[in-house]
Amino acid sequence: MDRKEQDVRILAIESSCDETAAAVVRNGRGVLSNVIASQIALHTQFGGVVPEIASRKHIEKINQVITQALDDAHVTLEEITAIGVTYGPGLIGALLVGVAEAKAIAYAAKKPLVGVHHIEGHISANYIENRDLEPPFICLVVSGGHTHLVVVKDYGVFDMIGRTRDDAAGEAFDKVARAVGLGYPGGPKVDRAAREGNPHAIEFPRAKVEGSPYDFSFSGLKSATLNYINKAKMTGQEIPVADLAASFQNAVVEALVSRAILAAKEYGYDRLAIAGGVASNSALRAGMKRACEEAGIRFYSPSPILCTDNAAMIGAAAYYEYIRGTRHGWDLNAAPNLKLGER
Ligand code: KG4
Ligand code: ZN
Repeated sequence: MDRKEQDVRILAIESSCDETAAAVVRNGRGVLSNVIASQIALHTQFGGVVPEIASRKHIEKINQVITQALDDAHVTLEEITAIGVTYGPGLIGALLVGVAEAKAIAYAAKKPLVGVHHIEGHISANYIENRDLEPPFICLVVSGGHTHLVVVKDYGVFDMIGRTRDDAAGEAFDKVARAVGLGYPGGPKVDRAAREGNPHAIEFPRAKVEGSPYDFSFSGLKSATLNYINKAKMTGQEIPVADLAASFQNAVVEALVSRAILAAKEYGYDRLAIAGGVASNSALRAGMKRACEEAGIRFYSPSPILCTDNAAMIGAAAYYEYIRGTRHGWDLNAAPNLKLGER
């Protein structure tokens, strides 16, 4: 391999939800730059992401974010090997902005185009800071829209062994946060409030999916938490926000940790990783670390900033897709319901 071949630099673009992000990643694991323009402040007043507003803001920000990613990495577009972009799943209008931009840049600069699955990106965030981590391993993916237990058989090759039957873990965090008045985005606010609370103060239900030991269900827990809040409101009682946050979070963490550990044991993997926005949750990280230590399993997690949406993770995933020969044409389209492993 000559030097040029050794240095694959991906310019990666991510715009599937409410972050406009671009990064330059070298050989899958070296982050040369990682720029994120967050829209949180914009959506806060509506209590959640407004898709139309998200798309408009992506259009406004994307060029600036990409220019900054190249500048921060001290590379020119000519020195980029390929353009990686999230093309699904996500909000269609939001995805379209990134896909159109990536196609335009790739076409004009005559670079290969590599479309990336957003969840493959989240999983690949683990490669960035864990140089020793290589497939196969088990990964628990917990984001705003997904809760999956995945066997990562090889780079870009997945076997989905468990999923949520109703709400995603992040969705449950967001809904409970809104109901208790903590606002958007819910996950980090519940995480913070829970630090002052007792995780055993309120006994919330733990749901099991009959016959599917690796599947999740959070709607019962969410309803029980919302009922508790409504009852307190109706009887004029003060809501113990910290205890409620800690107890709810504890129930979610228990469900996630127990199934992930069971899957690692049953499938015979001694390495377990977590990924997605909820993977930045402090109780989940601590609980998973402890359970893995007890079970003799090596635990991997990206830094919190690489757990929530970013483009560095897309650059890592795009590198491994590029290496295995994945190329997309100018007909690449946003795929809001893209399945993991689909190309
Ligand atoms: O992966 P992500 O940034 O976007 C999606 O692909 O969905 O995940 C966002 C989700 C939101 O539901 C957010 O509330 C949750 O991740 N989240 C957290 C924390 N930080 C973000 N949930 C619990 N604890 C956190 N610290
Ligand atoms: Zn995400």
